[in-house]
Amino acid sequence: MRAKVTIIGAGNVGATAAQEVARGDYADVILVDIIENYPQGKALDMNESGPVLGYEAKITGSNGYEDTAGSDVVVITSGKPRAPGMSRDDLVTTNQAIVKSVTEQAVAQSPDAILVVVTNPLDAMCHVAKDACDFDSQRVVGMAGILDTARFRAFISFETGASVRDIQALVLGGHGDQMVPVVSATTVGGIPLTSLVSEDRIESMVERTRKGGGEIVNLLGTSAWYAPGAATAEMVASIVLDQKRVLPCTALLSGEYGVADLYMGVPVTLGSKGVEQIVELDLTDSEKAEFAGSVDAVRDVVSILG
Ligand code: NAI
Repeated sequence: MRAKVTIIGAGNVGATAAQEVARGDYADVILVDIIENYPQGKALDMNESGPVLGYEAKITGSNGYEDTAGSDVVVITSGKPRAPGMSRDDLVTTNQAIVKSVTEQAVAQSPDAILVVVTNPLDAMCHVAKDACDFDSQRVVGMAGILDTARFRAFISFETGASVRDIQALVLGGHGDQMVPVVSATTVGGIPLTSLVSEDRIESMVERTRKGGGEIVNLLGTSAWYAPGAATAEMVASIVLDQKRVLPCTALLSGEYGVADLYMGVPVTLGSKGVEQIVELDLTDSEKAEFAGSVDAVRDVVSILG
């Protein structure tokens, strides 16, 4: 039997994630949105791509939560995206109310689900979702690190000409401009990036990664969706298929990396129980300092939640 995945928010990111999950063919998808006919129309369009793309998964659009009952994973993408000139943190109050309300309604129908939070500002919205349900922290996890790492990997590929498949990298910390691309853990075909690319070129890729979301907002007038949708689907697959991938995700720390009671991006083992392990890496002194700066930035936003 296929698993059941609910995606709340049928906008750019939610719909892209829904189609990526459907293409994996391991889960049926329920797409929920408040706009009448919108999730139903997108679901029908995706069902009609199944014959071409070769998936049998069924997508159902809904404006309510009855159809979501018994979901294995609930993904939360509902909320406002950034417009040019805005930071993710400018969205906090608007999206707090949306994330709280959809979490309450979703967990009432799916008390055993794993929640994957995508709405920005991501780290703060993980706290909102966690507070709106009484789930263990391992069952509430955020998507940001896979996206930020994918951006870093893409820029390294542009710079070196190497295949993105051979580029291993890691971006940790909060999902803001103080995120921490971990250069010491970055390799191209097993060779440290620092042996292949000059320090100033690495620094410019690090900066482009930190501002990668804003670069797209400036080009499109709204935030990205292809890479975010794909990154979300990678997390869903790891959970539903119990792949136990080690992926950079936003997890509630309780002492790891010297931080407690705060959602931060760290490498985790992601399986059917959600965050099954938080992996602690040895960071260099400067990476530790950057991580501490990112912790302060996330705490500032979380403090606005009240
Ligand atoms: P969008 O505007 O295309 O879609 C959002 C959808 O949420 C809309 O269709 C809207 O009707 C729906 N919605 C609003 N309130 C709702 C409610 N109470 N119940 C159900 N649906 C509701 O926005 P997009 O581009 O899909 O972005 C969604 C969120 O994801 C934004 O907050 C954005 O900043 C965030 N995002 C996060 C990323 C990450 O790395 N964590 C990456 C990209 C976007």
